[in-house]
Amino acid sequence: MIVITGASSGLGAALTHLYAAEKHSLLITGRSEQKLANVMADLTPLEQANVTAHAADLCVAQDVSDLFSRLSTPPSRVIHCAGSGYFGPIEQQSPHAINQLINNNLTSSILMLRELVSRYRHHKVTVVVVMSTAAQAGKANESTYCAVKWAVKGLLESLRLELKDSPMKLVAVYPGGMATDFWQTSGKDIDTSSFMTAAEAATMLKQALIATEHGYVSDITLNRS
Ligand SMILES: NC(=O)c1ccc[n+]([C@@H]2O[C@H](COP(=O)([O-])OP(=O)(O)OC[C@H]3O[C@@H](n4cnc5c(N)ncnc54)[C@H](OP(=O)(O)O)[C@@H]3O)[C@@H](O)[C@H]2O)c1
Repeated sequence: MIVITGASSGLGAALTHLYAAEKHSLLITGRSEQKLANVMADLTPLEQANVTAHAADLCVAQDVSDLFSRLSTPPSRVIHCAGSGYFGPIEQQSPHAINQLINNNLTSSILMLRELVSRYRHHKVTVVVVMSTAAQAGKANESTYCAVKWAVKGLLESLRLELKDSPMKLVAVYPGGMATDFWQTSGKDIDTSSFMTAAEAATMLKQALIATEHGYVSDITLNRS
């Protein structure tokens, strides 16, 4: 079983299509039931049979717990794509939108990892956390977005140390620009025609997520060409 968050849109939805086409069992989640239903409707009936959709706000601890309570066995992989953007000169950013940014990216990641470690730290579960190239270098007019993604990186790197002797593995993913709804919901009006499509990014990520008996790919940067 693979769990994909942020699966109602963009990268998460594209990953859902790729894994469903290979008949993997999937639990997909997003906040919007309608958008999850649209993703399901794009799958073939055969693919749909292996996919369960469950709406959850990952900033709410009970929602995160309820999501994993649906599983009768530990998932093999969890791909945490959920997140949102918010940009602009810091003095023009609204405190309310900054709080939403912190919640959707940082609080959701903290609650997800808290739940996953508490349930599965003794199991062979790969947890893939999608951040951004904004977690690797500062960017003008992306200060608060960089701050939350850097914070998620700090969370992940610290938990790797806590999980040193655990079979649970944490994979860090740093995508560059992808042409998804992310830009529209972030309120930033930019031309994304040269950005990676969600399907391209999902294809590269899926191929990069490999492991052998004694090794795994731990850090993945998806740059646009
Ligand atoms: N697009 C880019 O250029 C880009 C670049 C680098 C990194 N990223 C990162 O890549 C990830 C995926 O982005 P994307 O481009 O696929 O964005 P997207 O199309 O806007 O999708 C974001 C997804 O996250 C979900 N989500 C947001 N807040 C949530 C919350 N509080 N609880 C549960 N689900 C929540 C959304 O659910 P609903 O829509 O159902 O609410 C949606 O499914 C994000 O972490 C983003 O920061 C994006």
